[in-house]
Amino acid sequence: MTLKSKVKKLFIKIKYPLKNLPPLKKTSPTHTLPINSAWKGLELIIEDILNRFDIKRDSCIEFGVEFGFSTVVFSNYFQEVIGIDTFQGDKHTKQKGDHYEETKKSLAKYLNIKLFKSDYKDWIKQDVEQYDLAHVDIIHNYKETYECGLWAAQHSKCCIFHDTESFPEVRKAVFDIAKNTGKKAYNYPYHNGLGIIV
Ligand SMILES: C[S@@+](CC[C@H](N)C(=O)[O-])C[C@H]1O[C@@H](n2cnc3c(N)ncnc32)[C@H](O)[C@@H]1O
Repeated sequence: MTLKSKVKKLFIKIKYPLKNLPPLKKTSPTHTLPINSAWKGLELIIEDILNRFDIKRDSCIEFGVEFGFSTVVFSNYFQEVIGIDTFQGDKHTKQKGDHYEETKKSLAKYLNIKLFKSDYKDWIKQDVEQYDLAHVDIIHNYKETYECGLWAAQHSKCCIFHDTESFPEVRKAVFDIAKNTGKKAYNYPYHNGLGIIV
């Protein structure tokens, strides 16, 4: 990392402070997918978050499934996991082009996962449910993360966001959503960062 990018990162952390949340205990979930994902490592702290904030284990909604690494992690803990993705990739992902069928096939044995090929913008217009946990890991722009994340924070007891360390726009969106909803925001600064709004 160059000195300039180190200074920029420090500036972002000072401007958008998020309280650090070290896990009390790390747990490996029973099922994980043997694939590469920038999410890897975070599976160890999900149960800790659920216990710490007393989150029920009925329903989870995820925006940004890609090949399903995080989706399968959530399937260890919830009765039902709904995964929303365009399955087209975006400007920040390596994967471009349709990967719905491939992901659907590799997640078929996880019977509590339901995948929907949809833009979050269309999904949030028609869903009025409340979820125990929501996860936002879509394109890492401010506008989309804020819009999707605001809906997710308003429709869940706990909402988590990936890439708070690697994308300043995500960190800023998490900070603003917590401020504008009156909720509390925390951050786990490893594996590209996980923002937590409760
Ligand atoms: C970083 S990947 C998700 C990684 C995944 N959570 C994991 O554990 O590996 C981001 C995903 O968000 C999806 N995405 C981007 N913009 C979207 C949008 N507007 N609506 C729905 N999905 C979107 C992309 O298609 C891509 O699959």
